[in-house]
Amino acid sequence: MTRVIALMALLLSLAVPAMAEPVANPVPIGFAVATTSNVALFGEEQMNGAKIAEAYFNAQNGINGTPIKLIYQDTAGDEAGAVNAFQSLITGKVVAIIGPTLSQQAFAANPLADRAKVPVVGPSNTAKGIPQIGEFVGRISAPMTDVAPNSLKKAMALNPNIKRVVVMFAQNDAFSASETGIFQEAIKGLGLEVVTIQKFQTTDTDFTTQVTAVLGANADLVVISGLAADGGNLVKQLRQLGYKGLIVGGNGFNSTNMFPVCGPLCEGILVAQAYSPQADNPTNKAFVAKFEEAYKKTPPQFAAQAFTAVQVVVESLRNIEKQTGKKITDMDLAEVRVALNKALREGSFVTPVGEISLTPEGEVVQKQFYVSTVKMNPDGKTGAFVLTK
Ligand code: ALA
Repeated sequence: MTRVIALMALLLSLAVPAMAEPVANPVPIGFAVATTSNVALFGEEQMNGAKIAEAYFNAQNGINGTPIKLIYQDTAGDEAGAVNAFQSLITGKVVAIIGPTLSQQAFAANPLADRAKVPVVGPSNTAKGIPQIGEFVGRISAPMTDVAPNSLKKAMALNPNIKRVVVMFAQNDAFSASETGIFQEAIKGLGLEVVTIQKFQTTDTDFTTQVTAVLGANADLVVISGLAADGGNLVKQLRQLGYKGLIVGGNGFNSTNMFPVCGPLCEGILVAQAYSPQADNPTNKAFVAKFEEAYKKTPPQFAAQAFTAVQVVVESLRNIEKQTGKKITDMDLAEVRVALNKALREGSFVTPVGEISLTPEGEVVQKQFYVSTVKMNPDGKTGAFVLTK
């Protein structure tokens, strides 16, 4: 008997097509970054950029008259937090998810969105292999492959006598582990010697062991792949214990929130960047003006990339309306998610990080990168990334 009922239920479910579920008005876009934990140093900047974007694109008529609404979820700094945030956004009926902050989190959470056919736009994930997580995963944050070697070349231009390099990386973080590989290859490619590789954890606060190894290795250059809190503390202790040579930081050093961590000792760190506030295009000019008005400081890379992520979603939704002649809010949610994933890969976008597009696989194609030097202000807490000439 139960079997008959089960069979009838199955037949019924096959006969009745899934109910179309329209997209809500305002159009909900998920935004899941770390607003708590040590990763919030990045997440705060991402939130700042996203809020500017939401106000800016709504003031520009949203999706051809329909406003957007960013649905914020805190991922905290670990994988479980990102998974929970993604889960709640997927069931919360967003058209896409922008996030998470860390590549380490993306490898855990993105497969969920991919299975649910919800497009993900990574705003800051720079590890190798992110777009390859699945068909619905893309990013606007350039991987360090092309970016990292630039900062090493700048270091060599500043000190042509560099020969002995120490490489340091956070071994519990996917992005740091991926980036150090790129740095190490580039170091060897430039004919320099890696004299020791030192590992640490993103949760570490005491780096005495590693710094002692650096000093013992008689290095001319230290190259660090870590996040802002651990990276800032590491730099501080390197300087306090007497390391005098150049320091190159990876993409995790791209945050002005690192400045209070190493304070005046942040001075002179070289960082390769995927963003410059000086980039000369109308979107960046508008973004910088709005950001400075709101926060009284120059936008950092993570904020610019967060704005960019919102922008590519908004412009792709506008493009879908143009192509189909239908309003997004009259379309079925599942249909919009699939169309949006496609539109993200077909568009070309003039954003704060320059003109970008996404490959069919979801990898960002970006033309210009920069190398900056950290210049600290006399207050010892604030500073700026100044383009290295
Ligand atoms: N770029 C860093 C990452 O990918 C934040 O994890």
